[in-house]
Amino acid sequence: MRDEVGRLQPGERLPSTRRLVELHRVSPVTVSRALAALGNEGLVLSRPGAGTFVADTLVRRDPIDCSWQTVTLSERAVDTAGLSPLADPPHDDDLVSLASGYLHSSLMPVRLMSAALSRAARLPGAWERPPTAGIHGLRLFFALNLGANVDARDVLVTSGGESAISAVFRALVAPGSPLLVESPTYPGALAVARAAGIRPVPVPSDEEGVLPELLAEAFARTGAQAFYCQPTYNNPTGSVLGTDRRASVLEAAAAAQAFVVEDDCARFLSHGRRPPPPLLTRDGEGRVVYVTSLTKVASPSLRVGAVVARGPVAHRLHAMRVVDDLFVPRPVQEATLDLVTRPAWDSHLRGLTQTLGLRSRSLARALSTHVPALAFSPSEGGMHIWGRLPPGLDDTEATLAARRSGVVVMAGRPFFPAEPPAAYLRLTFSAAATIDDLETGVRRLAHAVPDLTGAPHEGGGGRA
Ligand SMILES: Cc1ncc(COP(=O)(O)O)c(C=O)c1O
Repeated sequence: MRDEVGRLQPGERLPSTRRLVELHRVSPVTVSRALAALGNEGLVLSRPGAGTFVADTLVRRDPIDCSWQTVTLSERAVDTAGLSPLADPPHDDDLVSLASGYLHSSLMPVRLMSAALSRAARLPGAWERPPTAGIHGLRLFFALNLGANVDARDVLVTSGGESAISAVFRALVAPGSPLLVESPTYPGALAVARAAGIRPVPVPSDEEGVLPELLAEAFARTGAQAFYCQPTYNNPTGSVLGTDRRASVLEAAAAAQAFVVEDDCARFLSHGRRPPPPLLTRDGEGRVVYVTSLTKVASPSLRVGAVVARGPVAHRLHAMRVVDDLFVPRPVQEATLDLVTRPAWDSHLRGLTQTLGLRSRSLARALSTHVPALAFSPSEGGMHIWGRLPPGLDDTEATLAARRSGVVVMAGRPFFPAEPPAAYLRLTFSAAATIDDLETGVRRLAHAVPDLTGAPHEGGGGRA
């Protein structure tokens, strides 16, 4: 049908649904789904009662001259390069995706989310304005889940983790000032910081997370007032901040009179073992500003997350959110509350833990078998395996070669705020359609980068 639309003129009417049913020998439901898909692509436009028409957008307008904008916008740029696999998943069915920050749709609780959304839409007041900090039930849900000394009033509902991180960074760090970050770290956080004119300063980490003595040194050297970290299942490494280091991180921040931003978006992505309690549970002085999100365990389109903050910073954050976009739409909040307070939600989380564990082990096995020269350490949670390339291999080149061979992986470079100490690849096991695809993807990687099929190199994931 897409080809047929391409042969028609803009504004021309498509055959009737009945005719399309006859032509393609499919059911009316299939025809209307296909029309909806074409509508989503902007190729056709349905007018109730009149029919479906080829959209005008296909018409090429005369190009307009925007060259003046380049001068006016000047050198300030918002770089989303490191985020592209998050925002733009590959649309080619022949590609195996080992690069995404989210679940494949078959792992999402789609039925539960749809049912929750339709129940929420029928609630009286569903379209009323919510309190700007979020509806009470949802704030309470986040607060109760933490096991920390917080209550619903300390919680601010946000549009997922990204908007939470954005508000927190801008609330804590002035433009031009440094922000300490674990290295490697989530490129979305680096992008947010840079877009706000904040300078991310790397602090090295190893398999047990950030190195506290280097963190203390970095605070002293830079005068930074905040440190961003993911103590539980770091993206990309999967590391968990060691128990002994947790107190040291808080002490280093306290000595610098600085905040700790705890990004805990991966908490529910454990592979079986219970994750350690958040850093927030050790904090009795409002030092930790905590960020969480439901997108990782539900869907990137369930854009609901939260910030937990106590003291004056909470007021600043609330004000910042209101200034940014007022509040998260009420139907989305009501649907989320409905979703997460049903027993089926807990079963979904339990099932997900098992599936991610299985997928993680399958990917690790395939890597050890087919690309033994890629060094990695197994992780207890998250969606990724972080593999170090042998010396002499370039991560960007490896990524491009992999794509040509039909597998999408992510180069390690965007995860480092400064020069990477070595070349890495991030391989995601949650985004492929099936477990078998993981092995197919790794075989393609081996084909694309034959140097990886040789003998393993010394050491595991190693200090990054
Ligand atoms: C560590 C981390 N934090 C935050 C986010 C943002 O997620 P979202 O805005 O979809 O909740 C991501 C997404 O990949 C992430 O990996």
